Amino acid sequence: MIIGLMADKGGVCKTTAAHNMGAELALLEPPVLLVDADKQADLTELCGVQSEPNIGMDAILRQVPTPSARGYIRSVAPGIDLIGTHPQMKRADRELAQRTRREYVLEEAFRDLTSDYRHIVIDVGHSEMVQLNVMTIIDVLVVPTTPAKLDADHLINMLEEADLMRQDLRLPSLRSPRRVAISVTRRSPNAGIEADGLGLIRNQFGAVLAPDIVPFSPRVIEASALHMTLREYRDRYGNRRDHTLTQAVDAYAALARHVLQIAPAMVGVA
Ligand SMILES: Nc1ncnc2c1ncn2[C@@H]1O[C@H](COP(=O)(O)OP(=O)(O)O)[C@@H](O)[C@H]1O
Ligand SMILES: [Mg+2]
Repeated sequence: MIIGLMADKGGVCKTTAAHNMGAELALLEPPVLLVDADKQADLTELCGVQSEPNIGMDAILRQVPTPSARGYIRSVAPGIDLIGTHPQMKRADRELAQRTRREYVLEEAFRDLTSDYRHIVIDVGHSEMVQLNVMTIIDVLVVPTTPAKLDADHLINMLEEADLMRQDLRLPSLRSPRRVAISVTRRSPNAGIEADGLGLIRNQFGAVLAPDIVPFSPRVIEASALHMTLREYRDRYGNRRDHTLTQAVDAYAALARHVLQIAPAMVGVA
């Protein structure tokens, strides 16, 4: 199955979710391919790969006439491969606008890869053209947010935008049958501050909410500095009494299981 992580806002823990949910999926149903489709290249770095020009998506999107993602894959952990990117992807993005069949570049590039992986997880940036390309190929859309009111307000925009893109592509909405999951990550150590935003999200989007909320944990920042997933970090350095760290690991595992329930793995995989 192909899962896209997309958000209208930046800094909503999208890349952290792609990395950790991807790793949890790889524990359940390997192999998993992570794809960094955000020119910030944070997922690439988070996986411990140095972002360099022509490393992955920045080059794939510029290939003519036939784009292919093969040749840009590297193994980053057992059961986990990565296609990285580099900030020069913004140039590829500009060029996409001039291209014929510009919405289907990713579909073509990934066509011969889908049988090699049980799941493909794409961290999508804010480029409209790249978002449209991702919308053509995904089975499930994961929308990360924080409970901050300003972030939660953007959820409506993101879901409407997603519907419009699917309409333009003449594809069925991802909302019915339900192929959308909203994943909430707390960005404040003080839960009280975010209670209102969380209430609003539960009211409006309860039906598509992921089962667990990822708690705030300073360990997330330490793990990312060490290029580790939260589970790896917890297993190596974690203190058994650090409940928020364990809750965060469990929340990403629950998100992975939730996504698997929404849509099954791709067929025809060894
Ligand atoms: N549960 C968490 N607790 C504390 N900090 C977090 C948590 N999740 C993510 N972060 C931090 O928040 C920042 C933004 O997260 P990131 O995943 O890069 O967001 P985005 O990809 O949406 O811009 C990063 O520094 C990340 O380490
Ligand atoms: Mg990011």
